[in-house]
Amino acid sequence: MTRRTDQRRVLLVDDSRVTRNLQKATLLAAGYAVVDVDCGEAALAEIGIAEGPPGGGGHGFELVLLDNMMPGLSGPDVLRRIREFYSRVELPVIMVTARDESGDIVNALKAQANDYVIKPIDFPVLLARMETHIGFKKSHEDLRNSHRSLIHAAKMESVAHLAAGVAHEIRNPLAQIQMSVDGAMMALGDEAKMAKEFLGMTIEAVERAEGIISELVNYSSSASLKLAKADLNDFVSETLELMTEEFEGHATLVKRELAAEPPMAFISPEELRQVLLNLLLNSLQAMATGGTVTIRTGVRVVEGLVAVEGARTGARVRNGDEAAFVVVEDNGPGIAEGDLSKVFDPFFTSKATGRDHGKGLGLTVARQLIELHGGAIELENSSPGLRATLLLRVNETAML
Ligand SMILES: Nc1ncnc2c1ncn2[C@@H]1O[C@H](COP(=O)(O)OP(=O)(O)OP(=O)(O)O)[C@@H](O)[C@H]1O
Ligand SMILES: [Mg+2]
Repeated sequence: MTRRTDQRRVLLVDDSRVTRNLQKATLLAAGYAVVDVDCGEAALAEIGIAEGPPGGGGHGFELVLLDNMMPGLSGPDVLRRIREFYSRVELPVIMVTARDESGDIVNALKAQANDYVIKPIDFPVLLARMETHIGFKKSHEDLRNSHRSLIHAAKMESVAHLAAGVAHEIRNPLAQIQMSVDGAMMALGDEAKMAKEFLGMTIEAVERAEGIISELVNYSSSASLKLAKADLNDFVSETLELMTEEFEGHATLVKRELAAEPPMAFISPEELRQVLLNLLLNSLQAMATGGTVTIRTGVRVVEGLVAVEGARTGARVRNGDEAAFVVVEDNGPGIAEGDLSKVFDPFFTSKATGRDHGKGLGLTVARQLIELHGGAIELENSSPGLRATLLLRVNETAML
């Protein structure tokens, strides 16, 4: 969670301090958050493209107000650089030209400026134009999010279809294998110890395969959940009690920082328990030599929530909503930045192969279940370790 998304940030680029201060004062008065810089190089650094392609975090601005004529990199130079990475709807740029010179204006538009204004700036007109371009950017984002949700829904449908097929085709032979192995074990005498060991391993493998099929079927069934209001503190305590066995023999300390005022949220305890177990198990497994897992609960206003692919829109918690949260934070190694976007993918696992190896379904299932709650799940590296945040609804809204 980085910055508030309801705070609209504008990047102001002008080499003249007087002009910059005047523009800044006007934009601040209009409710924008302003970052101002005095040259093109600094502008590229603010946008995160001074050294080349941007990192994963995005540029964080709603709009750039860019002076046309500056020493060093000129306005159009900066603009061309921006457009290598961000389109007009991804980062709107309004060019500020000194004179009503058609040459400058044509150049700016050729370099893909969204718009231009002429100095001395007519501020009411500038603010109106900014609103228009920020509005376009927002509609574009909404459209892209619903497009992603549609793609995800289509994917889910085919996964469900596939899972049902796999379950049907594979479960019968698995059951047969299990029965035959049980029979063979009984038929073998006491001296056939080795053979029995191998058969035992066969049974474990069969159980594992059965487990994967069950999880796949669960994951792809999009049955809606029956949510009821519950106290998250009680829920967390009960879940931890159920997990005493997993924590046994583990040098991991579990710290509870539960809200003094019990946070009430709409949950389906059985499913939410599975989510919390998956998170806690991941933390335990990440800290094989011991560490601390901290569990926090509370209520807060949601901010900085990034729309993710596959997020169900509509009934989901959004920025600005009040939501209850459960945070599971460990001080293990965290997740490599490049892997953060992949860990929710089915079968993504970094856990070694072998008997206890990961199936790579824990987080996939967790996200699906949280979405069925109309909530959201977020993972971020803390320093050190991983922080997983579950956001849950505090009021009843018609679910999708
Ligand atoms: N707390 C954590 N610390 C470090 N890495 C983590 C943490 N939680 C998840 N990961 C990474 O995300 C991957 C995917 O997690 P996920 O729970 O989906 O699958 P898994 O734990 O590998 O297998 P399983 O299906 O048994 O849960 C893990 O393999 C691990 O690399
Ligand atoms: Mg896991």
